[in-house]
Amino acid sequence: MIRSVGVVGLGAMGAGIAQLAVEAGFETIGHEVESSRGDAARERIEHFLTRKVEKGQLEPAARDAAVARLALTTDPADLAGCDLVIEAVFEDLGVKHAIFRSLEGVVRPDAILATNTSALSVTEIASVLERPERAVGMHFFNPAPLMPLVEIVRAERTSDDAFEAAYALAGRLGKTPIRCTDTPGFVVNRVLIPLLNDCVRVLDETGVTPEDLDEGMKYGAGWPMGPCALLDLVGADVHVHASEALYEKLREPRMAPPPHLVRMLQAGKLGRKSGEGFYRY
Ligand code: 3HC
Repeated sequence: MIRSVGVVGLGAMGAGIAQLAVEAGFETIGHEVESSRGDAARERIEHFLTRKVEKGQLEPAARDAAVARLALTTDPADLAGCDLVIEAVFEDLGVKHAIFRSLEGVVRPDAILATNTSALSVTEIASVLERPERAVGMHFFNPAPLMPLVEIVRAERTSDDAFEAAYALAGRLGKTPIRCTDTPGFVVNRVLIPLLNDCVRVLDETGVTPEDLDEGMKYGAGWPMGPCALLDLVGADVHVHASEALYEKLREPRMAPPPHLVRMLQAGKLGRKSGEGFYRY
């Protein structure tokens, strides 16, 4: 039974996951390399919980209790008591290997190590562990507090116990989990990444504006937000990186990032996080 959760990396995804954990009543420890980044994540969580209070969706006392359940640290050793630690750092295999190695050095033998990777192989991330059976994928969607899905990914050596514990945890966080195997992009990104790439190619081929393309997909295909707005939310850096990772594995031309997006990335037009993408923020 999972009682305490660790989150390594408190960017948009990690902070969102930590928010879900504290709201669901878990003692949560968030790890960041610099304390200022941890403080920024706590502010972000407080902001969104306060919005819920303002909208009558949460009692002020429940918000205060949730915020109090979040501890912050820059020392991985402080995660020693966690039943499950989820890493949500940049999509770099070397960085994820270093984190999994250092976590395994401090947590209990039965603690579960989860990764929020979206396009890397969970099996490959877990390969550096002495006990790879404790590793599992828990892939949340952006924005994590709002998107109901979590893909629970069984890697080559994931134990049934770790898999089922991660599945049950997603349910306790209020999410809808689905069971996936460790195939490139799992299920949703295997579909969504080439689809978003197609949308950008259509933008270039047809000369339609981002506004009109977004209206088209919202009102003609029932998408909750248009593809350009979604790419701005996800970030050109994250999307291009995930596209490249999938292209490398699958070699399907549609997986390769469209040159338009690569140019945006090179120009620093990352979307919401940089203040400009297809739109200005
Ligand atoms: N974190 C926490 N809370 C947030 C938040 C965030 N990042 N963003 C918004 N909120 C809260 C806000 O408090 C907001 O209320 P406020 O504006 O009054 O303060 C409240 O949530 C509701 O926000 P919205 O009014 O913007 O909510 P909508 O009803 O418009 O829905 C949406 C927003 C859920 C994002 C919807 O537009 C949607 O479903 N979009 C599609 C998103 C999607 O497809 N995501 C997947 C991306 S792919 C991915 O993640 C894979 C990865 O591997 C790259």
